[in-house]
Amino acid sequence: TKRVTTADFRRMKQEGQPIAMLTAYDYPTATLVDASGIDAILVGDSLGNVVLGYDSTVPVTMEDIIHHLRAVTRGAKRAMVIGDLPFLSYHISKEESVRNAGRLMQEGLAQAVKLEGGREVAETVRAITAAGIPVMGHLGLTPQSVHQLGGFKVQGKDGEAARKLLEDAKALEQAGAFAIVLECIPQQLAGVLTEALSIPTIGIGAGGRCDGQVLVINDLLGMFSDFTPKFVKQYANLKEQIIQACAAYKDEVKGRVFPEPQHVFNMAEEELKKIY
Ligand code: KIV
Ligand code: NA
Repeated sequence: TKRVTTADFRRMKQEGQPIAMLTAYDYPTATLVDASGIDAILVGDSLGNVVLGYDSTVPVTMEDIIHHLRAVTRGAKRAMVIGDLPFLSYHISKEESVRNAGRLMQEGLAQAVKLEGGREVAETVRAITAAGIPVMGHLGLTPQSVHQLGGFKVQGKDGEAARKLLEDAKALEQAGAFAIVLECIPQQLAGVLTEALSIPTIGIGAGGRCDGQVLVINDLLGMFSDFTPKFVKQYANLKEQIIQACAAYKDEVKGRVFPEPQHVFNMAEEELKKIY
């Protein structure tokens, strides 16, 4: 199977074919997501919240992302795999940003990277793309700036903030970004941005006018419930199923029901006698 590329992203926007993207953080999940025909898998720094148990994405490191990226890239054969650049990995200098983006490609075997921000990161996006690394932008609610934004809330609701987001989106496109995630903005604004750009927009809490959608896999599967945003649609309730399965196992162990005959290995009687 041929892997999805940035050229496919561009073509899908032109042809009006929605792009379906999900996150994944480990080999087995990446294998299943890939088998479902998803176009792109993001090893997001949401890893911090849903896998590592932090209450924000800020503590996530390059090493964390690379570690999980390597597992995901072993499992995903068809989907484009995108590595999220974590907090502060692309802010110190252009040199350090290119180095870190390169590490996600070389050590994590990603096919693209993602970073948060608008005009303030445009030159960084230009430098990374100049190194041959496809960059996905991320605007609106940018969780790495949550302490500056003052919480997880809808962005770009007033005209001035919306106009700034439009300028940010155009700056990212001009800097060479191949797509932009739009997180938690009004659907009308997402529609305006999607029409203004020639590169695809991938929405999360940004409505149906985007060129594609992305969700955090744990939210979709109902496997993470510390906090479920309004924009999440839960397609399964694995949390309940996992708790029930673990409880059934525990009860069967304590009741000496498990293991059953089909789960055990036997040895011949005369061999057993040789032990004594
Ligand atoms: O880290 C992540 O999962 C993300 C998506 C929500 C876009 O950035
Ligand atoms: Na992220």
